[in-house]
Amino acid sequence: MDEKERDSAVSHAPLMGRRGFLRAGASVGALAVGAGAGVKAMAEGTPDPLITEMQPWASQWGDGVDATPYGLPIRFEGDVIRRNVSWLTADVVSSINFTPIHALDGTITPTGCAFERHHSGAIELAKEDYRLMINGLVDTPLVFTYEDLERFPRVNRTLFLECAANSGMEWAGAQLNGVQFTQGMIHNMQYSGIPLRTLLEEAGVKPEGKWIYVEGADASSNGRSIPLEKAMDDCIVAIKANGEALRKEHGYPARLCVPGWEGNMWVKWLRRVEVTSEPVQSREETSKYTDTLADGTSRKWTWVMDAKSVITSPSPQMPIRHGKGPLVITGLAWSGNGAITQVDVTLDGGKTWKVARLAEPGVAMALTRFYLEIDWDGSEMFLQSRAHDETGYVQPTKDQLRAIRGENSVYHNNGIQTWWIKATGEAENVEISSPADRGGAG
Ligand code: MTE
Ligand code: CO
Repeated sequence: MDEKERDSAVSHAPLMGRRGFLRAGASVGALAVGAGAGVKAMAEGTPDPLITEMQPWASQWGDGVDATPYGLPIRFEGDVIRRNVSWLTADVVSSINFTPIHALDGTITPTGCAFERHHSGAIELAKEDYRLMINGLVDTPLVFTYEDLERFPRVNRTLFLECAANSGMEWAGAQLNGVQFTQGMIHNMQYSGIPLRTLLEEAGVKPEGKWIYVEGADASSNGRSIPLEKAMDDCIVAIKANGEALRKEHGYPARLCVPGWEGNMWVKWLRRVEVTSEPVQSREETSKYTDTLADGTSRKWTWVMDAKSVITSPSPQMPIRHGKGPLVITGLAWSGNGAITQVDVTLDGGKTWKVARLAEPGVAMALTRFYLEIDWDGSEMFLQSRAHDETGYVQPTKDQLRAIRGENSVYHNNGIQTWWIKATGEAENVEISSPADRGGAG
């Protein structure tokens, strides 16, 4: 912009004049009221100074393009951040934080607030120091540098990553008061990377090879066994997320994506893929990431994250502040078995259900955003959502899950979440038995 352009930009607003502002303000108000959104019309004699008075942002320069070479959210959004649960976070280097899903919309998780889980801290591994080894039952053991990886054909895919322990603290009853904490061990990013199949084919898998064992370069190594079939089907060695280099905490410079399967298998700082004939039975797949059942036995190899959904707003961190009238109910749904086909929402704890509107058709193994717009009468509600996926699977109630799994499980809790919305608009995490479980109608 040269000086002349700047002058005309600055003088543009005042040119409109006070009467111009008034007229513009009134018509916007009228439109909004017509749409029933409850925007306050400008009352006679009480003009809104935000409309009628010259504001500093309209009479001063804004920041130049050199002020923020890489931007952060505006300061007013400073509470949209990852948070942890103090009693869960015994040690921050072997712990977890949660995505602020209550405050987000759409489906892509902004990288800077996408939850992190690491067993021995987020390491700093430079691209130059990165090596990826493929060994074991292969014709030619290979080592790739980061530059080598960049020379293979790439794919782009948007995927959710859900930690198997998401909602794990809710097995025995409603505990944490916020969707960030109850369902926030999830993120959804667009990954760019190399199909793992391409790299395995480069090495040549021997006929005896039936599994792979993947491990990371961090001290924990987080080793996991994955059936070769899955490895050859849709796993990706990702080198970018949401268009940019992976963040350190998400596995820079390369991580494994295992679409639809539990987050623990998405090895970060991926350093080795060993082709084996049997699973390795590592610590991460025997002492952990198994599911204890009601009878005390445990089952393992429960890799897929079953269909799940949750209302993100209103919710305990997002109370209704505007009183009765138009209310947007929104949330997220996902399934590790394919695309979400339908989401139902109930206002009365499961007695009656309405079909929510999917913002976009469900994408396999990615988050789906749903909305239900209602006219809230100001009375209390027991809000729940229920996901259906393309296999015909319907998200179960927590009681249905507990009938099979008991209360000793930690992982794979995909039960229906209830928010008690009070007449004040405040929301609380509660559990109610569903009409179906009580043997009633609905
Ligand atoms: N990979 C390595 N190398 N080390 C780890 O600690 N944690 C796992 C998985 N991959 C982990 C890892 C777990 S339990 C989860 S849920 C996901 O990474 C979390 O990925 P995120 O930090 O990108 O959210
Ligand atoms: Co995890």
